[in-house]
Amino acid sequence: MKNDHSTSRRKFLQQIGATTLITAASPLSSLAAKEKAEERILHYERKIASNDKIRLGVIGYGIQGHFDLNSALKVPGVELAGICDLYLGRLENAKEQFGKDIFTTINYKELLDRKDIDAVIVATTDCWHARIAEDAMAKGKHVYVEKPMIYKISEGYPLMEASKKFGKVLQVGSQRVSSISYAKAKELLAAGEIGKLNMVNAVYDRQSAIGAWEYTIPKDASASTTNWDRFIEVTGKMAYDSKKFFWWRAFKEVGTGVAGDLFIHLLSGTHFITGSKGPSSVYSTGQLSYWKDGRNMPDVMAGVMQYPNSKEHDAFQLTLQVNFVSGTGGQEITQLVGSEGIMLVEGNEITIKHNYMPEAPGFGGYDSVFTFPKKLQEEMQKEYDAKWTPAQKKRKTKADIIYKAPEGYDEHVDHFTNFFDAIRTGKPVVEDAVFGFRAAAPALACNESYFKKKIIEWDPEKMQLK
Ligand SMILES: NC(=O)c1ccc[n+]([C@@H]2O[C@H](COP(=O)([O-])OP(=O)(O)OC[C@H]3O[C@@H](n4cnc5c(N)ncnc54)[C@H](O)[C@@H]3O)[C@@H](O)[C@H]2O)c1
Repeated sequence: MKNDHSTSRRKFLQQIGATTLITAASPLSSLAAKEKAEERILHYERKIASNDKIRLGVIGYGIQGHFDLNSALKVPGVELAGICDLYLGRLENAKEQFGKDIFTTINYKELLDRKDIDAVIVATTDCWHARIAEDAMAKGKHVYVEKPMIYKISEGYPLMEASKKFGKVLQVGSQRVSSISYAKAKELLAAGEIGKLNMVNAVYDRQSAIGAWEYTIPKDASASTTNWDRFIEVTGKMAYDSKKFFWWRAFKEVGTGVAGDLFIHLLSGTHFITGSKGPSSVYSTGQLSYWKDGRNMPDVMAGVMQYPNSKEHDAFQLTLQVNFVSGTGGQEITQLVGSEGIMLVEGNEITIKHNYMPEAPGFGGYDSVFTFPKKLQEEMQKEYDAKWTPAQKKRKTKADIIYKAPEGYDEHVDHFTNFFDAIRTGKPVVEDAVFGFRAAAPALACNESYFKKKIIEWDPEKMQLK
């Protein structure tokens, strides 16, 4: 039965193909000529403004605290002055790495009281970001705070206010905004390489326990080794739960789920490339498909956001997707779709593919023409051919181009270089408190939309929920 059907469909298509101009008039862009992509390596030369000494403290020395510190110390003139964490094993790890004399504490306020510290990295669990970042600026420290800048939308306003009031540099840790590849993507979009942007589709899929945030829990984990009572100072009373401490992303009491962990990267990247201030509406839906380990956040989630016409860009739609049970094996890709092509952003590789509409409107192929009487078909074909030249009927083609960052390029180090440059020279950072809030608020609105099952309206100019 199935075979019969497909055979007759094939025949049907052949018949159409035999009598009409399928190449010129087909709506399928897959028929457009594909030339071999040209590869270009981006030029990278970085001058450090000065290497005046900057003494750095780290608050939150878990996985990202380690990566952040490692990148920060690659910038000339930066020295480590102390490390704070709640889990004692991580303070021991710090002493193993930097020697027994390195200052360590479980109380971040002791680190902020030190006069020999100029700047701090805040790489704690999300629920602590705003409190520590504000306290740090009040104590005269510059702040590199991990994404999402805040755990709740309401925390954004006092934090933006504090960064203004204390005049300290605050940079949020979405390192991709400092990438030379993202700078190239921004330039290419502005130059009209893909025509007018109308959609951005961003995907962040994984297929592993660690990808789904089930990090190894140390076997000595307990309320005392994690200083649980301190940990819950910002959350309200909760019984000790090692998962809420070490797998915090998956619990709404302390983390921000897929949206705060991953959508935020996709939002920061999109806002940087498009220059956007944010969406006007946010809708998100999801499900808990597989990682039923006690978590109360979904492991499959999608978000749809509508970006309004603004002076920075025409209206476009953003779709976000995370799937932690993905048979793709995992993938991270952002696709910007324009009227004349697409831009694929995969890590630090940018691919531009062009597809143009033919100037002539369609006639024939998968069209209604073959359903008309023969004579009429012939007359209309003649008229069409007289009106449009073969060139106007064809899709224009242009070679695909791939831009790559040079081997070994590290945007994380570049992000820290920008942070320290700002401290040394007063030059503003791209990802300041306002940028951080404009990315975090729509990400967090996804959780609100998911839990309340409603569309969230947002004013991207005034940065307010409507
Ligand atoms: N920019 C990126 O690409 C990126 C990547 C991973 C994580 N992150 C962000 O970094 C942050 C940390 O993530 P992680 O994977 O390192 O988590 P983690 O659980 O490995 O580390 C968090 C650490 O913070 C400590 N901590 C919590 N509250 C504290 C407090 N009040 N004072 C001192 N220490 C405290 C915990 O003891 C823990 O060691 C998160 O905000 C996350 O979103 C960013």
